[in-house]
Amino acid sequence: MSVPLLKIGVVLSTMAMITNWMSQTLPSLVGLNSTKLSVAPPGVPDRSTGVLPANPEESWQVYSSAQDSEGRCVCTVVAPQQTMCSRDARTKQLRQLLEKVQNMTQSIQNLDQRTQKDLQYVQRMEVQLRGLETKFKQVEESHKQNIAKQYKAIKAKMEELRPMIPVLEEYKADAKLVMQFKEEVKNLTSVLSELQEEIGAFDYEELHNRVSNLEERLRACMQKLACGKLTGISDAITIKTSGSRYGSWMTDPLAPDGDTRVWYMDGYHNNRFVREYKSMADFMYSDNFTSHRLPHPWSGTGQVVYNGSIYFNKFQSNTIIKFDFKTATISKSGQLDYAGFNNRYHYSWGGHSDIDLMVDEGGLWAIYATNQNAGNIVISKLNPATLQIVKSYTTNHPKRSAGEAFMICGTLYVTNGYSGGTKVYYAFHTNSSTYEYIDIPLQNKYSHISMLDYNPRDRALYAWNNGHQVLYNVTLFHVIRSEEL
Ligand SMILES: *[C@@H]1O[C@H](CO)[C@@H](O)[C@H](O)[C@H]1NC(C)=O
Ligand SMILES: *[C@@H]1O[C@H](CO)[C@@H](O)[C@H](O)[C@H]1NC(C)=O
Ligand SMILES: *[C@@H]1O[C@H](CO)[C@@H](O)[C@H](O)[C@H]1NC(C)=O
Ligand SMILES: *[C@@H]1O[C@H](CO)[C@@H](O)[C@H](O)[C@H]1NC(C)=O
Ligand SMILES: *[C@@H]1O[C@H](CO)[C@@H](O)[C@H](O)[C@H]1NC(C)=O
Ligand SMILES: *[C@@H]1O[C@H](CO)[C@@H](O)[C@H](O)[C@H]1NC(C)=O
Ligand SMILES: *[C@@H]1O[C@H](CO)[C@@H](O)[C@H](O)[C@H]1NC(C)=O
Repeated sequence: MSVPLLKIGVVLSTMAMITNWMSQTLPSLVGLNSTKLSVAPPGVPDRSTGVLPANPEESWQVYSSAQDSEGRCVCTVVAPQQTMCSRDARTKQLRQLLEKVQNMTQSIQNLDQRTQKDLQYVQRMEVQLRGLETKFKQVEESHKQNIAKQYKAIKAKMEELRPMIPVLEEYKADAKLVMQFKEEVKNLTSVLSELQEEIGAFDYEELHNRVSNLEERLRACMQKLACGKLTGISDAITIKTSGSRYGSWMTDPLAPDGDTRVWYMDGYHNNRFVREYKSMADFMYSDNFTSHRLPHPWSGTGQVVYNGSIYFNKFQSNTIIKFDFKTATISKSGQLDYAGFNNRYHYSWGGHSDIDLMVDEGGLWAIYATNQNAGNIVISKLNPATLQIVKSYTTNHPKRSAGEAFMICGTLYVTNGYSGGTKVYYAFHTNSSTYEYIDIPLQNKYSHISMLDYNPRDRALYAWNNGHQVLYNVTLFHVIRSEEL
């Protein structure tokens, strides 16, 4: 068992029986794979939280990074080492004892049933024996009468009683065994309680509760791991080559399972036709699509499809329109007050990219700039139903020098440009209203990125790169502090 890099200790005393159960059942319950034990994400720094138990071999540890290199969530539980368990005299002894008690309880039940049956037989025989006694007396009293006949009857009765002798013997032996077992069980019970006291006053019930508790916390841990800080972006995969230099494409992060429709918008103005492809495969391999005509042309490439509607910036305005594809109607529209438009505060590539709408794990966001914030980026959380601003955050990053921006887990990531060598270099955390400079390379395969958005369902970045629709996987990183568990 290799030692993973991230260390989060969950200290639990364990008994062998429970540990077996846990190491076999728990990982599958929380969607873990034991093969992950040896997979430490490359380049992840060792950030032990320093809460490792004094005796790591004896305790549970939870290791986590948000995602492995392929974008999957990784949460690793390390069980106490098996070898240690078997070397642990106490737990071994305890397991044997418990097993023995279980075996013996079974034996005692069997014995009891048998002796009960035998007892009934013996009681019946007793009645017959008494009857025989009376007969013998009668014979003694009147041995003149019909002796031969009486003897015959007695002999028959004796024949009948003969099989009872071994039964009675067995019964006696069993009774002795039962006594022995009872004594042994009594002895074991006291040994067990002593052991339990020694091990830490855990009874089975309590350990069980602890196990359930750990399970719950692991689930919570998995939930938390759905979010994290961006630490890496994979190389781009080109999904399709089509359209002009500028455009946007996406899937709906809230689409029901099985709905993998792809939405496609070519160009940043003078267009109001949204293409719908039935599936990613259709998108990749065919030109079979249906077109939706929007009531207004859009501006820029900041549209987003969310929960069956497209949200877009109406051309030459700071109006946001929510258009429901199913009913083909505008279900809501609203102004983003103060938001610059008409190339006032575009991304560095231009193209009326003043207002960028996007969705992350937390919901719908609008990225824009205002005069009030001196042309720096403003982040607004929007209510997807009313288009009202729920909360706004002002950053110190000039919108016009941003290449593109995308939101992951409430953090806005900004790239340094749209052409040439590109990287994600600025992050603004809305949870704490703080920013930091980072350096995450972003492969710019076709040298002109006009759209870059995160999809929380796929945990992927969708980009429009010079007439190519490309995808990137992201690696998110989350450290679980012990107090979170
Ligand atoms: C778990 O590991 C086994 C190999 O030990 C592998 O076949 C299986 O696909 C893995 N499951 C997941 C969900 O990664
Ligand atoms: C992202 O990861 C998934 C799962 O490993 C993989 O199938 C897909 O090809 C990856 N996509 C990119 C763009 O690397
Ligand atoms: C309990 O019974 C099983 C099967 O009857 C046996 O394999 C095992 O050794 C027994 N355990 C003890 C401790 O006697
Ligand atoms: C039970 O314990 C007593 C005293 O510790 C001992 O004398 C006796 O032999 C034990 N009985 C069995 C069946 O182990
Ligand atoms: C805010 O989120 C970032 C990354 O998502 C994280 O590193 C940071 O600790 C969080 N801050 C607070 C105060 O929760
Ligand atoms: C194209 O899509 C339509 C409707 O979705 C479908 O009826 C038709 O069979 C598709 N054609 C091809 C070639 O896939
Ligand atoms: C998605 O839309 C449905 C109705 O179409 C609504 O009931 C649901 O609340 C919406 N979900 C979100 C997260 O907005």
